[in-house]
Amino acid sequence: MSLRLLSPVQVGPYRLANRMVMAPLTRSRSTSDGVPTALNVEHYRQRASAGLIVSEATLIAPQGRGTPDTPGLWSDAQVEAWKAVTAAVHEAGGRIFAQLWHVGRQSHPALQPAGEAPVAPSAIQATGQCRTPEGVVDFGAPRALELDEIPGVVEAYGRAAERAIEAGFDGVEMHAANGYLIDQFLQDGANARTDAYGGPLENRSRFLFETLEAAVAAVGAERVGIRLSPHNVHGGISDSDPWALHEHVVQGLAGRGLAYLHVIEPRTLPGGRHREGEAANAAPRLRPLFDGPYIAAGGFGRDGAEEILAQGHADMVAFGRWFISNPDLPRRFAEDLPLNPYDRKTFYTPGPGGYTDYPTWEEAGAAAG
Ligand SMILES: Cc1cc2nc3c(=O)[nH]c(=O)nc-3n(C[C@H](O)[C@H](O)[C@H](O)COP(=O)(O)O)c2cc1C
Repeated sequence: MSLRLLSPVQVGPYRLANRMVMAPLTRSRSTSDGVPTALNVEHYRQRASAGLIVSEATLIAPQGRGTPDTPGLWSDAQVEAWKAVTAAVHEAGGRIFAQLWHVGRQSHPALQPAGEAPVAPSAIQATGQCRTPEGVVDFGAPRALELDEIPGVVEAYGRAAERAIEAGFDGVEMHAANGYLIDQFLQDGANARTDAYGGPLENRSRFLFETLEAAVAAVGAERVGIRLSPHNVHGGISDSDPWALHEHVVQGLAGRGLAYLHVIEPRTLPGGRHREGEAANAAPRLRPLFDGPYIAAGGFGRDGAEEILAQGHADMVAFGRWFISNPDLPRRFAEDLPLNPYDRKTFYTPGPGGYTDYPTWEEAGAAAG
C-alpha cells in the first residue's frame, strides 16, 4: 500500500520528498554558549529522510534562554557550527528549518545574562519548573517588558532569521506555541498589559505579527513558517477563549504567502505526552482558515497520520517522539516495520545515549544478525 505520507509536497520554494516532518525537539546537547556540536550534526544527519526537519527550538538572543545547553543563532560561532548541521542534512537529501525561540517567563535568573529576571509581557510568574546549571527550580518571577524594549526583541527575531539563512537553513519557524514569549503575549492568562500589546485580540496578537513580519522582511514569506498550540498548558498558560484567539491569529496568517502553518493538537501535554483517545480537533477547525500548507502535530502515529491526510485536514504531519527513537522513521512507515521505543530518561541528558545511538532498521538487523 502506498502511503499518502510518503508522497511529495511543495513547501515554499521546496519540493519535499515526503509529508513527514520531524517535529522540533529540544535535546540540550549543544554547548553552554549555545553552539551546536558534532553530536548535533550526527543527530540531524541521521534523520534527514524526513521531508522536512524543524530544528530544536533555537534562541534568538541570550535573554531567551530557559533551558541549559540549548542552541542559539546570535553569535558567529553558532552560525558557523549550524553550517555543519545544515550541510549534513542537505548532503543526505533533506531540508531543515530553524525554530526561532524566546522563552519569556519560562526561565530563571540562573539562566539569564547577569542573573537578571526573565522578561515577559506582564509580571505574572509561570507555574512549573526549569532545569538550571544548579538543579531544577521553580520558574523565576518575570518583569514586564517596557513598551520601548519591544522593538528590540522584534528586531532580534528578524536578525535570527537572517542568521539562520546564513547558517544554511532552508527557512525558519516562528515558535509561537507552548507558552513561550509569543504565546505569552497571545494568551490573556499571561498578558495583562494595558498598552497596544494587551487587551483585545488585535493587541495581544500584535507581537506575533510584528515578529513574523520581521522574519518575513529578513528572509521572505516563503521561507517562514509558524507553530501554534491552542489550549496549551505549558508553564500554566491559559486563555479565556482559546479558539477565538487562535482563529483570529490564523485568519491573520492567511494571505501572506507563508511557508506553512504548524499546529499542535490540544490533546498534547507538556513533554509530548497526550490525552489518550482524544481526536485531533485543531486541524479540522483551523486548517480551513489558512491558505498554505498545514502541518498537524501531536500524538500521531502512522495510521492517525494517514487518516488526517485522507480527511484533508492536513498536508503534512509532524512526529516528535517517534523521530527521537527512529532515525529512519519514513522507511519504517513505508514498510510497516516495528518502531524502536523511546526512552524519556534520555530526552535532555548530555551525550550520545538516547540521542545518536538509536539504530536504523538496517543497523538493528545487522546487530541482531
Ligand atoms: C523531548 C521533547 C522536546 C521538545 N522540544 C520542543 C521544541 O523545542 N519546540 C517545540 O515547538 N516543541 C517541542 N516539543 C514538542 C514536540 O515538537 C511535539 O509537538 C510533541 O512531542 C508531540 O508530538 P509527538 O506526539 O509526535 O511526540 C518537544 C517534545 C519533546 C518530547
